[in-house]
This record gives sequence, C-alpha cells and structure tokens, in this order.
Amino acid sequence: LSSSLLVSFSLLMYISFRNFCLTPALVCSEAFSVFLHKHCPVVAERFSPTPWCWGGRFQTLVCAVLKSRPPVAYRNELIRTDDGGQISLDWVDNQASAAYPKSSTRPTILILPGLTGNSKQSYVLHAISQATRRGYRCVVFNNRGVAGEELLTPVTYCAANTSDLEHVVQHVKGLYPHAPVLGAGVSMGGMLLLNYLGRKRTESGMVAGFTISVPWDAQKSSDSMEEPLNWLLFNKYLTSGLCRAVTRHRKILEKVVDVDYVLKAQTIREFDERFTTLLFGYKSCTDYYRDASPDKKLPNTAVPILCLNAADDPFSPQNAFPLTIVRSLPNVALLLTAHGGHIAFLQGLFPRGESYMERLFGQFVQAVFEHPSDINKACGIEEEQRS
Ligand SMILES: *[C@@H]1O[C@H](CO)[C@@H](O)[C@H](O)[C@H]1NC(C)=O
Repeated sequence: LSSSLLVSFSLLMYISFRNFCLTPALVCSEAFSVFLHKHCPVVAERFSPTPWCWGGRFQTLVCAVLKSRPPVAYRNELIRTDDGGQISLDWVDNQASAAYPKSSTRPTILILPGLTGNSKQSYVLHAISQATRRGYRCVVFNNRGVAGEELLTPVTYCAANTSDLEHVVQHVKGLYPHAPVLGAGVSMGGMLLLNYLGRKRTESGMVAGFTISVPWDAQKSSDSMEEPLNWLLFNKYLTSGLCRAVTRHRKILEKVVDVDYVLKAQTIREFDERFTTLLFGYKSCTDYYRDASPDKKLPNTAVPILCLNAADDPFSPQNAFPLTIVRSLPNVALLLTAHGGHIAFLQGLFPRGESYMERLFGQFVQAVFEHPSDINKACGIEEEQRS
C-alpha cells in the first residue's frame, strides 16, 4: 500500500510540476508568431520559475532582494525642456561595439524605468548588459526628479503625459538621425511607451517597442494593489517612495500642491488624487487612470511591439490583459507566463543572474535590429512607413 501511495504521490508531484512550468501563451498574428519563433526562440521555451519561489508576490519580493547588479558606467546628460525644466539621460555609448563601430548608425535602445525607478534599477542594468554585448547603444530616460537632479519647474511625470518622452526621442534622433531606436519600457515606463506609440502612430521615431510587466488598466491595477496583502507588501513601499521624492523637491512643488496633504497619502491612488491629477490638469484621478491605461491605445500603434506579462503579477491583474484587442492587431504580440510576478520571471535554483525576461529582451532587440524588413513584413507594416 505504501509503495503505491508513493507512486501516486510522485505522479501527482510530476503532473503539478509540469503544469507549473507551462510554455507561455503567445497571443499574436500567425505571421508575427512565425517571425518570433524563428528569431526569438525563447518564446517557445517552457518557463519554469524558481521551484522554491511560489507565487507572484514572492517572486517579486525575492527578485528585489536577490537579483545581481551588473556594473554599468553611465555618461549623464541633462537636457532642457520647453517649460524650463530638465531631464536626466544616462547613456551607455558602447564605443567598443564590434558589430557597430560607427556611432552614427549604432542601433539605440531607449529604456524607460518604472514608477519611482531610475537607471540604477537592477532590471535596467541587466537590460544594458544584454544590449551592450550585442553591440547596441543604450540611453535611460529618467523620469523628472528621481535621478538626483534638481526639479527646475513644478512638473514631474505621469504615465499618460508623453511630452517629455517625445522631447527625448527628438533629442536622440537629432544626435543620431541614422540610428534606429527601439523603446523598452518596464511597468509604468511601458505604459508611457505604449501611450506614446499610440499617440504618434507612424511618427514615433522608433522601429519597435518592448514592454515588461506593463499594467494594462490603471484602475484595475490600483484595485489589485489595494488588496490588503498587496498594499502591505508593495503599495505602501511605493507610496513612501513617491512621497520621498516630493519631500526632496518640496520647495518647488509647494507652489502648486499642498505638500503636507500629499505626504499623508497611504496608497498610490491617494498620491495620484492629491498630486499627479493636479500637476497634469486632470479633473479626477479616474480621468487620469483612464488616460494612462494603454490597452485601448494599442490599435493606434504602428510598429512591432512585444509585451511580456505574468498572470500572477500583483501590479498588473490578468483580468485586464487586452487579449481581444491584441488578437485583432497584426503588429502586437503578448507573451503571457503563468508565473513570474512583477518584473521578476526568476528561473533556476539560485536566481541572481540572467533570467527569462532578460533573455527575451536580448533576443527580441537583436531580432528587430538584425531583421528589420522581415519583422515589418510579419507585422503588416509598409516599408515606406518606417521611421
Ligand atoms: C503634458 O503636460 C504639460 C504640462 O502640464 C502640458 O503642457 C502638455 O500639453 C501635456 N502633454 C500631453 C501630451 O498631454
């Protein structure tokens, strides 16, 4: 009896482990899928999360603690904006690039970090390490006021206002008009990128987009983040990060908001109600969240886009994944894993180094830059439309 119990127990464990590391679902057109399978083979791999790291919340937390930080030397550049403010860009020029020795045509990846994040985030450092070893140039667009620079005007950033991103893309294209630019956005940076690509359509100045763990519906993300455990583990921490930035720039922000009231915010939504909504002129936080949500903007985008999300991401609930919209679009692909949490996707017993999302990023950017006409054909994009 005990041996048959053991056999059925092992069988059960085997079946649940197999289910645990399913092949991610790839939602896109047939032609885009063929392209990705050929040039970005990681999309056909099973994603097996770190076996001791159960659940999206735990993945997210462990990633924050364990993940390594590849060394990156930045060249900082401060650029001025029309309102008298400044934006801090962190460049990795990659002058030693063997694949692209000429700076003028070296492909460039514009990286957009998440809420409160900047160029020092481990996911940014890992992305840069993937890009530089392939010969590409990177530039990190730090949101205003979070990279150690002064705020010269009472304007920060939000997920819906694409004016600063537009300014940055124009600046980069002005410096290197013959270098293709790919936008890579993480979490809130991904929302901003997709909102930009939707707004600018064929005039985006980018050849493709890539996002990791983007929240598709800001309202639904906010609801998920206000569930008690998510509030305790993530929301509270992020809200205090937002408040710390307001404190740092208190003097200038006092001119437009009631800083003490803002600092009493306990959730990201309260912060957005008291701060972001006012700074960017929205009637209400609901209005801001509607404008910030990228799901409905996808049909206006006009370049190939690959988006990676995990179904157990506490920041980006799967009930907001835009499956129906993406199925109707030739140029957008959604890659969905069952596990992976928020910007984590940890693999292996000791998940410090390169993981699933870094390998996907590396293969996708290479596929875009090395096979530009193939990817455009696969995505139904006319050649003359390319920027
Ligand atoms: C972004 O915000 C600035 C300042 O409030 C405003 O002037 C600009 O028109 C906004 N841009 C977009 C694209 O909404």
